[in-house]
Amino acid sequence: MIPVIRPLLGAEEAAAAAEAIMSGWVAQGPRVAEFEAAFAEATGAGHAVAVSSCTAGLHVAMIAAGVRAGDEVVVPSLSFIATANAARYVGAEAVFADVDSATLNLTPATVRPVLTERTRAVILVDQAGVPADLDAMRALCDPRGITVVEDAACAAGAAYHGRPVGAGASLATFSFHPRKLLTTGEGGMIITPDPDLAARLRRLREHGMNISAAARHAERQPVIERYLEVGYNYRMTDVQAAIGLVQLRRLGDIVARRRQLAARYQRLLGQIPGLRMIADPEYGTTNFQSFWVALPAEFPVTRNELLQRLASAGISARRGIMAAHLEPAYAGYRGAADLPVTERLSSSSVILPLFHQLTRDEQDQVISAMFDAAGRPFPADREPTTSVAG
Ligand SMILES: Cc1ncc(COP(=O)(O)O)c(C=O)c1O
Repeated sequence: MIPVIRPLLGAEEAAAAAEAIMSGWVAQGPRVAEFEAAFAEATGAGHAVAVSSCTAGLHVAMIAAGVRAGDEVVVPSLSFIATANAARYVGAEAVFADVDSATLNLTPATVRPVLTERTRAVILVDQAGVPADLDAMRALCDPRGITVVEDAACAAGAAYHGRPVGAGASLATFSFHPRKLLTTGEGGMIITPDPDLAARLRRLREHGMNISAAARHAERQPVIERYLEVGYNYRMTDVQAAIGLVQLRRLGDIVARRRQLAARYQRLLGQIPGLRMIADPEYGTTNFQSFWVALPAEFPVTRNELLQRLASAGISARRGIMAAHLEPAYAGYRGAADLPVTERLSSSSVILPLFHQLTRDEQDQVISAMFDAAGRPFPADREPTTSVAG
């Protein structure tokens, strides 16, 4: 079976993890600090705070942004459900807004109609690694005192106006789940230019303590820690950070390879009439974290039939991005009438296999199965203009 994604983990990651284990310090410690420094430098952020997942990062970002019970947080329904859940963790209401059909992201045009006096934050997702137009969203939200939190879970390695994604946000959160380009098994990172916010985030991820366990351990004098507020255990381990440091060094190569494979998909699948695909927006570049295609209404088979056909051909595809408002956890929230683009995209799109080790033959199998489903002959001119390894 060709998987939808396969993490790129090898001997270097294994050696780094082993070294962390042999050091005797496996919880959050020096390697987490090193990973944070490297991530901050790679993204051009002032501060990076490692956490146990992007979901945990979004939770503490909501607290740091001052979101409270009774507030409203605007989120896309077309996202992994963790985005909307973050608002609810702090007792706020998740208010769904529709997305742009080309980028799958919120825009000022989709968000403006749902803003109210109670709106405290917008969670702007870079869906599938396509950068959202952060400047445009901040131009709408900043004057109204609404914080834009960038959910860059999928977007490590993507660029916005020539800078790494997240660099221009007051708070941006990344995921290192294996479905993402850079993985630590589970894990996440929050970046911010604000030292006070960073200090608060560090405290919140570690039980509200005024000094980290690692810093306390390094002191020669006994240190009695204080607990300044109710916090959480959202720490990353040093084993994860050791893996993350290696993965971060490989990120540029991983993105380059994905972009090469994606260009070949675009060139060949683009010959199927009406099929729309993930693409770079005019203001940035995606890392193609998920290669989604949206089927036209006239496509000869339904989305679910297509998934079945791909599975029968030994190809593990996935339905497109989910729509949170259709899940029981969000029953009674804004629905179909308000979110036409979201509903159409979530029911008519699929995610195709795309990963570093995907061979030309495997990619041809996917393309062939897509043409088969479309009832069209497999194109003869399949050679890429630039060479694809494998
Ligand atoms: C947009 C978005 N936000 C948040 C998350 C949650 O990330 P994690 O699994 O690291 O908690 C995901 C994961 O798929 C995601 O796609």
